[in-house]
Amino acid sequence: ATRPVILPSMLLCDFGNLEREIRAVENAGARALHLDIMDGHFVPNITYGFTIVEAVRRVTELPLDVHLMISNPGQYIQQFVASGASLISIHIEAVEDPRPVLDEIRSLGAAAGLVLNPPTPISAIAPFLDACDYVLAMTVMPGYGGQEFDESVLSKVRDLRAMLPPEVLVEVDGGVGPGTIATCAAAGAEMFVAGSAIFRTSDYAASLKELQRLAQV
Ligand code: DX5
Ligand code: ZN
Repeated sequence: ATRPVILPSMLLCDFGNLEREIRAVENAGARALHLDIMDGHFVPNITYGFTIVEAVRRVTELPLDVHLMISNPGQYIQQFVASGASLISIHIEAVEDPRPVLDEIRSLGAAAGLVLNPPTPISAIAPFLDACDYVLAMTVMPGYGGQEFDESVLSKVRDLRAMLPPEVLVEVDGGVGPGTIATCAAAGAEMFVAGSAIFRTSDYAASLKELQRLAQV
C-alpha cells in the first residue's frame, strides 16, 4: 500500500496570510495542496481563479491539485496549467464528453482526474477511466467547506478501488476528518482532501499528523 496523501484544501485558509498558511502546512508535512475553483454557476459559490493559483505556485514547489467546480472546464485548462496546476480534476456533471478535456490535461503534462458528485454513479465515468490518472469521489455536494461527510459514498469508493488499476488513485473530498478518514482509507481511498480538519484547528501539524496516522491501512 502507498503512503496516504493528505491534501490540505486551501479554501478555508487565511487568504490574508496565504504564504504563511502554505508554509505552515508545508512544515506540517503536507506533500500536495488542493485548490478549489468555483464559478458561481456549476456550484452556487465563487472562490478564486488563476491569480491565486499563480500566487500559490510562486511560494511553494508542492504539487497543486486543482479541483475545477466550473462549467466549461475545457475552456480553461491551458491557463490553469500555465498558472502552475500539477493535477487537474473536472466534474463529469459539467461536461458532455470529458475525454478531450482529460486528454488536453495530460498532453500539457498535468495529471487528469474525473470527479463524481455523491449521487452520480460510477457508470457515468466508466467509459473514460483509461483517460484518468485519478478519480475523485465527492463525499459532500461541492460548494462549501465544513459540510458533513456523506457515508453513502463509501461503497462507491470501494467499487472504484476494486475496478481501477492500482496506478489510478482514488481521492475523497468533503467532510474528511479524524472521525471519517479511517473508513475512507479502509474503503480504498489513497488521497484525502481536508479543509476544516486542518484549517479550523489551532495546530495544523498535529491535525495533519493525526489524519496521516488514521489514514494508514
Ligand atoms: C467542497 C470542496 C472541498 C472543501 C473541503 O466543495 O471541494 O475541497 O474545501 O472542505 P472540508 O474538508 O471542510 O469539507
Ligand atoms: Zn475540493
